[in-house]
Amino acid sequence: MQERADVVAPGRVAVVTGAASGIGLALSRRLASDGMRVVMADIEEPALAEAAQVLAAEGGYVLPVPTDVSRAADVEALRDRTLAEFGGVHLVCNNAGVTGPGRMLWEMTQADWDWVLGVNVWGVVNGIRAFVPALLREDAAHIVNTASVAGLVTAALGPYSVTKHAVVALSESLHLQLRQRSAAVGVSVLCPGWVRTRILDSDRNRPAAVAPPPEPDAVGLAVRETARALVESGMDPAGVADAVVRAVRTGCFYVLTHPEMGEAVRLRAEQVLSGAPPEGIPFP
Ligand code: NAI
Repeated sequence: MQERADVVAPGRVAVVTGAASGIGLALSRRLASDGMRVVMADIEEPALAEAAQVLAAEGGYVLPVPTDVSRAADVEALRDRTLAEFGGVHLVCNNAGVTGPGRMLWEMTQADWDWVLGVNVWGVVNGIRAFVPALLREDAAHIVNTASVAGLVTAALGPYSVTKHAVVALSESLHLQLRQRSAAVGVSVLCPGWVRTRILDSDRNRPAAVAPPPEPDAVGLAVRETARALVESGMDPAGVADAVVRAVRTGCFYVLTHPEMGEAVRLRAEQVLSGAPPEGIPFP
């Protein structure tokens, strides 16, 4: 097989969504420090402007573009701006995500579902539809979709689990379809465990039209506290960014940043094959 040119290289162009915070910010920083021109997209405009300023002051070549990934027109505008500014795009990281309300599935409103599916699933679909045709025009290109280890295991995380399993399935289909066409576009699906970010404060980006959820019940509160402690003691996002760059360079598809969680993936596969009802895996 012919060796592919390096996608992460000086002068090449990356687009990162959810770039104002956490994993997206760490990815932007890492790609910029490798000399890429980085288009940073996020819905939170003041945080995005500040993040871009910080990276520019560190010597990065960055372009902030306010974007709501759940809106196809926004993501198309992001692509158009990228191509107008830089003439091409080599790496797209569909990373923006929200946790959604910690309510029972049967208590969630249609607006709750629309918000979480809109950002976590439609955001990735919009990224694929807008950018893959442009990636196909390059000598080498890659797309990284951020799922979660929650997309590979069984857990009571409600809509979050639903969307992250969807991102894994989307990424697998995309990879197979590109391979059937011998395209020079690689795919990776990022499946981290706990990472120290603001993910549990996703409500800061809840659209005004989506009513705030009521306080959770005692079980919900306990889950929230446990999750918060796990995120606060989680991996440094910079380590996740390093893993993504390694994956792009080596053609790694499933990017598992927390090897200790591999056991939960194996357990789920065994449960599926045994037909037994799912056990709660080491997740709250
Ligand atoms: P974060 O909350 O620090 O960053 C998420 C970013 O996405 C924020 O800057 C936010 O403004 C942006 N965003 C939210 N809605 C958006 C929209 N509609 N359009 C554009 N941008 C939007 O959280 P984190 O952890 O960095 O999240 C990044 C991705 O990593 C998410 O997809 C999340 O599900 C995933 N993930 C996080 C884990 C963790 O433990 N922190 C574990 C596994 C996956």
